Amino acid sequence: MTTFVFLTCLVAATGGLIFGYDIGISGGVTSMDGFLLKFFPSVYQQQKDVVDTNEYCKFNSDMLTLFTSSLYLAAMVSSFFASTITRVFGRKWSMFSGGITFLAGAALSGVAESLQMLISGRILLGIGVGFANQSVPLYLSEMAPARLRGMLNIGFQLMITIGILVANIINYWTAQIEGDWGWRLSLVLAGVPGAIIAASSLVLPDTPSSLIERGREEEAKAMLRKVRGTDEVEEEFQDLVIASIDSKTMKRRWMNILQPRYWPQLTVAVVIPFFQQVTGINAIMFYAPVLFKILGFGKQAALMSSVITGIVNMAANTVSIVSVDKVGRRALFLEGGLQMFISHIVVGLLIGIKFGMIGAETELSRGYATLVVFFICLYVSAFAWSWGPLGWLVPSEIFPLEIRSSGLSITVSVNMFCTFVVAQVFMNMLCHMKFSIFFFFAAWVLLMTTFIALFLPETKNVPIEEMVFVWKNHWFWGEFIPDEALHVQNRTPARASPYLSIHASP
Ligand code: BGC
Repeated sequence: MTTFVFLTCLVAATGGLIFGYDIGISGGVTSMDGFLLKFFPSVYQQQKDVVDTNEYCKFNSDMLTLFTSSLYLAAMVSSFFASTITRVFGRKWSMFSGGITFLAGAALSGVAESLQMLISGRILLGIGVGFANQSVPLYLSEMAPARLRGMLNIGFQLMITIGILVANIINYWTAQIEGDWGWRLSLVLAGVPGAIIAASSLVLPDTPSSLIERGREEEAKAMLRKVRGTDEVEEEFQDLVIASIDSKTMKRRWMNILQPRYWPQLTVAVVIPFFQQVTGINAIMFYAPVLFKILGFGKQAALMSSVITGIVNMAANTVSIVSVDKVGRRALFLEGGLQMFISHIVVGLLIGIKFGMIGAETELSRGYATLVVFFICLYVSAFAWSWGPLGWLVPSEIFPLEIRSSGLSITVSVNMFCTFVVAQVFMNMLCHMKFSIFFFFAAWVLLMTTFIALFLPETKNVPIEEMVFVWKNHWFWGEFIPDEALHVQNRTPARASPYLSIHASP
């Protein structure tokens, strides 16, 4: 790998910071008294009302969760606009737009005086996230050489986890500030990652695929030489050109993606983000401080526990960085799924035994509380090396160029929609389902792990323009792929053939 490509991918991955910062900041802010008093006085009252209120229901308020969730609705809509900008103007301009909008959103929510201002700020932040999440994974997968694509792409998830952790630490610190300044500082500091991605996207070169797509073939070839660190790029260049011709002849992009020949990729692009969210990860990421408070932890202890889950989330992510291009995507998915399943069951049992269905207030001993945090960490680590990074990596590498940008925006919007739903309904579900909500997530994990085992082909080390062979050779998806979709192979049979035999099984 050239230093150039490494630095470029590092800079692009900073797009993950804004998403991560936001995930990590909202839970802490919604557990701060000053914030609740200003915008959600009834929740503040409910929370203080220890005698009458069921513990599971203390934070159950639709308006409060709307604060967290509104951002993801905005991100869902904006990812479709981002798709067009990404394709027509290039990947970097989507990243830039994302950074700038996010910056504006951070300013507005930090100075908010009314709920309307607060929610408007969240919507701007969401638009920023939609743009960044649509363009960054795509950029990384196109820049990276096939052998290291997994590792470089996971840089995005690493930045997400860094963003979450930084936000958790900031909350821990600002929660100690009296009055309004604490939460305002937490919200306004989102401007820092926003500025980082906006400024750094300006120095990024565009990907060879994107340059070809926009008719700048000479520049594209020079860029390909630079990122691959060799002059021997003719074959890959030709693959990219062919892909781009296909892309240009395709007029009604959004209708075309519905053709049966794309069903395999489309199915995966839709179910992966859906499954990623029903692992339950954001119940923990958004609401860990609140959840720990419900479990009887003091305010600072609750925030500290979410710093701990934040550290585990980031550290465990590195496991996938070093192993994804060696053991492959499927092995990580399967191991992660099993570990998440077991952890969910144990956490559900531990909480159920102590709180029962009533949710009466109870003191957790230090040992018991540590055990709960330990199993939550076991769960978070499994997610952090499986569904977390792979939920973004796999959709970004499975599509042919002609529908890659649109395909990825479908992934982003499904992800954002499901994130919205989890953020919006989790507190309500907890209030009604009590501890069995963890069993509910466990059941989904079981289902998604079975889906991976049967339907996800292994994509490690396959050049992105040759991915179609992987689908063609899958026991189930193969028949959807017509022979004319394989013309990259017709041109260079010797080079393409290995993927026909290596990836013959799921
Ligand atoms: C997911 C987020 C999640 C984060 C946790 C990301 O891949 O898309 O929803 O909060 O991982 O690290």
